[in-house]
Amino acid sequence: MGSMKAMGKKACVVGGSGFMASLLIKKLLKKGYAVNTTVTDPGNPNKISHLVELQSLGKLEIFGADLGVEEDFDAPISGCELVFQFATTANFASEDPENDMIKPAISGVLNVLKACARAKEVKRVILTSSTAAVTINQLNGTDLVMDESNWSDVEYLRTAKPHGWGYPASKALEEKAAWKFAEENHIDLITVLPSLTTGPSITLDIPTSVALATSLITGNDFFMKAFKGIQSLSGSISITHVEDICRAHMFLAEKESASGRYIVCAHNTSIPELAKFLSKRYPQHQIPTEFDDIPSKAKFVISSEKLVKEGFSFKHGIEEIFYHSLEYLDSKGALKN
Ligand SMILES: NC(=O)c1ccc[n+]([C@@H]2O[C@H](COP(=O)([O-])OP(=O)(O)OC[C@H]3O[C@@H](n4cnc5c(N)ncnc54)[C@H](OP(=O)(O)O)[C@@H]3O)[C@@H](O)[C@H]2O)c1
Repeated sequence: MGSMKAMGKKACVVGGSGFMASLLIKKLLKKGYAVNTTVTDPGNPNKISHLVELQSLGKLEIFGADLGVEEDFDAPISGCELVFQFATTANFASEDPENDMIKPAISGVLNVLKACARAKEVKRVILTSSTAAVTINQLNGTDLVMDESNWSDVEYLRTAKPHGWGYPASKALEEKAAWKFAEENHIDLITVLPSLTTGPSITLDIPTSVALATSLITGNDFFMKAFKGIQSLSGSISITHVEDICRAHMFLAEKESASGRYIVCAHNTSIPELAKFLSKRYPQHQIPTEFDDIPSKAKFVISSEKLVKEGFSFKHGIEEIFYHSLEYLDSKGALKN
């Protein structure tokens, strides 16, 4: 990756307004890529002003496209060598995940891939899946290791319907549908599987995943409950800095030898362990450290060994992940003391 410029190369970023995608666009433009990006509502300045600002860094065109409309993707993908697909229709409040999350996720990724198959210039597609597509199962233990060979147990999720089941089921089924289509249509697909992601964002609002990851510090009840829900559902808390997530996307897009799935996870912990670390590191905040309802040890670690063996190195560990997240929340006026 280094400082090599990518002059003359063009990339499409689907779902460019989001947390990870907007930061990736910034990095691509700085590296010399021309970028086409898609948003659902290009006429809404509140949704795209952070992208409009990025236009000063290089050639960035903003298109309107909805995952539900296949033809929307032809124009933005045309002429692009790389396509990054970040957009998600995740709706955590849904009471009907099958229709609200799973079906739109599958048809959405297929709509993007069909446009990629039509566009002659596309060399590689990079789909952002999630470690949620890997880690949810009925296994017991504390020393399990999860890697790219694991898939979340969709049958269990659909039958037992544990709280929050729709998201991991939709990510796993979306990713499987993408692999099937890519194989049948000879598309060079890479899937990137980030763990929970936090860090500074250029979006207008604070991203949900930042609010979740920092909830022990902000004390926000709603997000703390949801954060605990992540450990209840999966058995572990795994966290990564958004900058490393974007660096990994670029690395994998440009690394010719890359193939298949790649987990991107910097740090594995549990809520009680994390709370202890944070309360020692940030004694000025009232961080709860007693949790009757959550096991103190995580069920598994998620391994990024495949990515590291490919030549990637993480820039940020747990210290910086939280330091940068808190600095960011402070700059948004969202930190109490
Ligand atoms: N954040 C995390 O901790 C995390 C961890 C693992 C995996 N992931 C995955 O990584 C990807 C990016 O996550 P993020 O947190 O950066 O996303 P985000 O900030 O929540 O952004 C979601 C994006 O999806 C777009 N979108 C929603 N409905 C759409 C539709 N019908 N058609 C087209 N676009 C639509 C939104 O576009 P508009 O704003 O234009 O409506 C927005 O850009 C997602 O696939 C997510 O599942 C995230």
